[in-house]
Order: sequence, then C-alpha cells, then structure tokens
Amino acid sequence: MRAVDLPGGESVPALGLGTWRIGEAARRRRAEVEAVRFALEIGYRLIDTAEMYGEGGAEEVVGEALAHGPVPRGEVFLVSKVYPHNASRRGTVAACERSLKRLRTDRIDLYLLHWRGAVPLAETVEAFEQLRGQGKVRHWGVSNFDVDDLRQLWGVDDGERCAANQVYYSASQRGIEFDLLPWQRQRRLPLMAYCPIDQGALASSSPLQKIAHERGATAAQVALAWTLRQPDVIAIPKAVQAAHLLDNLAAASIELSAAELAQIDAASPPPARKRRLAMT
Ligand SMILES: NC(=O)c1ccc[n+]([C@@H]2O[C@H](COP(=O)([O-])OP(=O)(O)OC[C@H]3O[C@@H](n4cnc5c(N)ncnc54)[C@H](OP(=O)(O)O)[C@@H]3O)[C@@H](O)[C@H]2O)c1
Repeated sequence: MRAVDLPGGESVPALGLGTWRIGEAARRRRAEVEAVRFALEIGYRLIDTAEMYGEGGAEEVVGEALAHGPVPRGEVFLVSKVYPHNASRRGTVAACERSLKRLRTDRIDLYLLHWRGAVPLAETVEAFEQLRGQGKVRHWGVSNFDVDDLRQLWGVDDGERCAANQVYYSASQRGIEFDLLPWQRQRRLPLMAYCPIDQGALASSSPLQKIAHERGATAAQVALAWTLRQPDVIAIPKAVQAAHLLDNLAAASIELSAAELAQIDAASPPPARKRRLAMT
C-alpha cells in the first residue's frame, strides 16, 4: 500500500477506514466490531473516528475491535477528533481523556479539531501541544479548514505543527483543487479526503461505472483510485460490508491511465475558480 509522509517524516497508509454512522445503534454493535476487526485482518492500518460519531459509540466500537483484534495497537494509526464546542484549553484535554478511554488506548496518533468553532485557535493549539507533550496525542491537525482558516492557524504559536487537514474531497467535489490543495502542497501538509465515495453515491455514477466496467473494477474503486492518484492524499472510505472493505483496499493498488483521468475530468471538470469548501 502506498504511504503518505506526515510533516516530520512518519509514513501513514494512503487508505484508511472511516467510521461515521458506526456506533449509533446497540443492535448493530457486534457486526460493527466484527467489521472493524475484519478490516484489520485484511490489512487496514489507519482508522478515522471522532467523539461525534455515535456520541462516542464509534470510538467504543474501534476500541473493542482493537482490544481483541488481530493486530497490536502499535501497528494501527488511530485518528480521532474533538468537537469544536469542546475545543477550549481545558475542554480539549478532557475530551481527549474521554476518547482515550473509549478507544481503550493511551494515545491517539492524530487528533483533529473537527471543524472551526467559536474557541480561539490559539487555545486549542495550546491544548493539543500539551497533549502532545504528555504523549497522549502523537500528532494533531484540523478538519474542514479552508485556506483562510489555515492561514490564521499558521499565525498562532505552534500553528505550523499541524500535521494534516481533513476535508471533503471526491471525484464530484473538486473545489479544493483550486487553492486549498496547492496551498497545503506548498507547505507539505497532507490532505485527508473524507466522503471519497460521496457517501456511497459514486458507486452508481455512470462515468465511473463505464471506466470500471472496462477495467473489471467497480465504480467505487475507480472513485477511490482517483482520490488516491495524488501522493499527498489519504482517503478514508467508510465501509462495514466485507465486500466493500475488500474492494476498497484493492482500489489502493489501481492506477488510472491518463485517458481514464481525462474521462473523469470531462464528467467532473477541475474548478476554474474559488469554491466554498464542501462539507457534510
Ligand atoms: N471530518 C469530517 O467533518 C468528516 C465528515 C464526513 C466524514 N468523515 C470521515 O470520512 C469517512 C468517510 O466518509 P463517509 O462515511 O461520509 O462517506 P464514504 O466513505 O464516501 O461512503 C460510505 C458509504 O459508501 C458505502 N461504500 C463503501 N465502500 C463501498 C464500495 N466499495 N462500493 C459501494 N459502496 C461502498 C458504505 O457502505 P457500507 O458501510 O454499507 O459498507 C457507506 O454507505 C467517515 O466515515 C468519517 O470517518 C469526516
């Protein structure tokens, strides 16, 4: 699997597992734990979650899967996020402690501010740095930040220690290619692409299905291969169905040809002007 370098040199897998909509219902809990465990078994080594998902339920599912899972905790890169309303100096630390408990671990590998709220960035960064100093967080970053937000972050003390920005990016949502992706690239700040299959919708996109049919893949795999075509992008599709988990992992090895990329450009052209950041 291709790897993406974080600032500082650590490599993380370019494809990970998303967990939104997991941990929301007790009756699905067992199957969800099994799905995360299966993902680990077949080779997923990066998991993205958040205190928001299932109000802690997704972190619990991940924690359970890791605790009795097929691979040691040290082999998995764990990403979680703090709610903006918890992101004060003290609130961030308290939220992180709660997440660690649910995840049944002593450290989060990458801890993100889920989106920008009312708390001054300097406060959140101070808390992130405290957690990093204590080893409870190995790296920290942000999510749903556009160029202006990142510029402001770069203006606060230690703001440049940000290790990643996680935003909506898919073959149909390409707005970030205009300015955000180039801005991040100049600063070697990796991008984590969420909703890379448009929450499942790209699996039935006609242009992607046409390409998929010709190369014996699925449209969802083409969507993922498209997102992963760039060396500094990490994609975190969510899946609980075994077939989806297998397909998505295999998509990380698909390289689209120039002609296939041109077909996707024709169906969904790159942006010619600034677009508002897409969000879900
Ligand atoms: N930072 C943020 O603000 C933010 C926002 C949104 C999402 N995220 C993160 O990004 C992750 C991914 O985004 P997402 O979950 O919204 O959307 P997504 O990954 O684009 O799509 C997930 C949906 O696609 C289906 N799917 C997965 N693989 C498939 C395949 N190979 N073929 C057909 N369908 C497939 C899944 O079905 P099954 O589950 O039934 O297999 C699920 O319904 C989230 O889970 C979360 O971790 C972050």
